[in-house]
Amino acid sequence: MDFALDVVVLAAGKGTRMKSRWPKVLQRLGGQPLLAHVLQQAAQLQARKAVVVTGHEAEQVEAALADWGAALPLLLRSVRQQPQLGTGHAVQQALPLLPDDGVTLVLSGDVPLTEAATLRALLALCAGQQLALLTLRLPDPSGYGRIERAPDGSVQAIVEHKDASAAQLGIDEIYSGIMAAPTRLLRPWLAQLDNRNAQGEYYLTDVVRHARAAGCPVQAHRIDDALQVAGVNSPAQLAELERALQRRQAERLMAQGVRLADPARLDVRGRLHCGQDVEIDVNCVFEGEVHLGDGVRIGANCVIAQARIEAGAQILPFSHIDGQRDPVQVGPGAQVGPFARLRPGTRLGPEVHIGNFVEVKNSSLAAGAKANHLAYLGDATVGERVNYGAGSITANYDGAAKHRSVIEADVHVGSNCVLVAPITLGAGGTIGAGSTLTKSTPPGALTVARGKQISLPGWQRPKKGKG
Ligand code: UD1
Ligand code: CA
Repeated sequence: MDFALDVVVLAAGKGTRMKSRWPKVLQRLGGQPLLAHVLQQAAQLQARKAVVVTGHEAEQVEAALADWGAALPLLLRSVRQQPQLGTGHAVQQALPLLPDDGVTLVLSGDVPLTEAATLRALLALCAGQQLALLTLRLPDPSGYGRIERAPDGSVQAIVEHKDASAAQLGIDEIYSGIMAAPTRLLRPWLAQLDNRNAQGEYYLTDVVRHARAAGCPVQAHRIDDALQVAGVNSPAQLAELERALQRRQAERLMAQGVRLADPARLDVRGRLHCGQDVEIDVNCVFEGEVHLGDGVRIGANCVIAQARIEAGAQILPFSHIDGQRDPVQVGPGAQVGPFARLRPGTRLGPEVHIGNFVEVKNSSLAAGAKANHLAYLGDATVGERVNYGAGSITANYDGAAKHRSVIEADVHVGSNCVLVAPITLGAGGTIGAGSTLTKSTPPGALTVARGKQISLPGWQRPKKGKG
């Protein structure tokens, strides 16, 4: 492309059929708002600027853009269209932000699955010289604008369904809502729009007429894949596109060599990066950025968010790894699950074993440490080769503040122990089963703490707030 690209995203229209409190363009597909998918297309094309036209529920859409738009590698702006007088009127609102030296690509905020290659072909057809339209033939074209071709194959007009004659309604080639035009030419065409039509709207599609009147060729790039121009107007359509997106992602992973037990039973809501010889069983959900190293195996029914699983590690069935607030790391050769729960800030070293019904939060476990059954480790630093017994917990919270537990290398903690933090268990020590430890223990010693039962009347819990 030897011209600068600016993108206008139409997102001012109403999405009433979603029956949602949220604007349609913020509904999630593959874990991301529809509008984010569209803006990523713009970023993939190396657009220099994207202007989002907001209107219905503009405040919410603009707040969302301010929230995650800054991460996009392009200049992002929004303009309000108030009231919404049609698609042509919408693009008119963006014009003051579009420099004359570029090409304007018009996209819809609710059409998320257009491929970059398709848009590149459309832009190549435009070539900075003419008006290019993305079109498609549909077995049932009703509701869409129809493409009227001239005898030479160029486009003569787009006729909206509501304005079409019986003969025009018979045309099965439709306008997708996506077009590209040199901005310096688009500007005068848009200035000439009027609303003398069946809907009393300023139609963007009327620029075809004005382009032809000005002697500018209008060409269509017709594709076959309806998915690429499918919009979202209802929960059913959203779900349909979700499956299509997931299928696409599964195919991409398999092409890289990832072995999926069933590509139809995988959900990637973010980005999944895989090394070689990765195997993923059925019904797994990946959220945010997840990295799976060489030879990693993920069992059935795991949910994994924001995590790095190193080479050779195995996540056994029904495990939940949640690194949303602080990414989780699972070291090489580690084994997690079945039924394990790794919460934010968990860092497992090489060959660590976390077994069934073990919960780990904001804790690190060094190489070879094991907690195999029914245990809780919160705010703990666990040394190499520690063995942490069934039913043992760190009592890390005193009702007001969190405290750390340090379990040094080679400690064996028996079953059913309570470690009342802050506490340090010295290296190589052994803690007898059923101990409730309130004080640190010396290295190399056997410690047993099973006191008789006492109650303290009138004891006051620490107050919340400070600390
Ligand atoms: C439009 C096209 C039609 C095409 C169809 C493809 C026009 C006049 N017609 O139809 O030829 O086949 O898309 O889906 O352009 N929007 C605004 N402001 C407005 C009106 C709409 O921002 O005042 C936005 C909507 O939010 C949406 C997009 O423009 O993202 C298209 O609007 P929509 O009403 O869905 O398009 P149609 O009129 O159905
Ligand atoms: Ca409309």
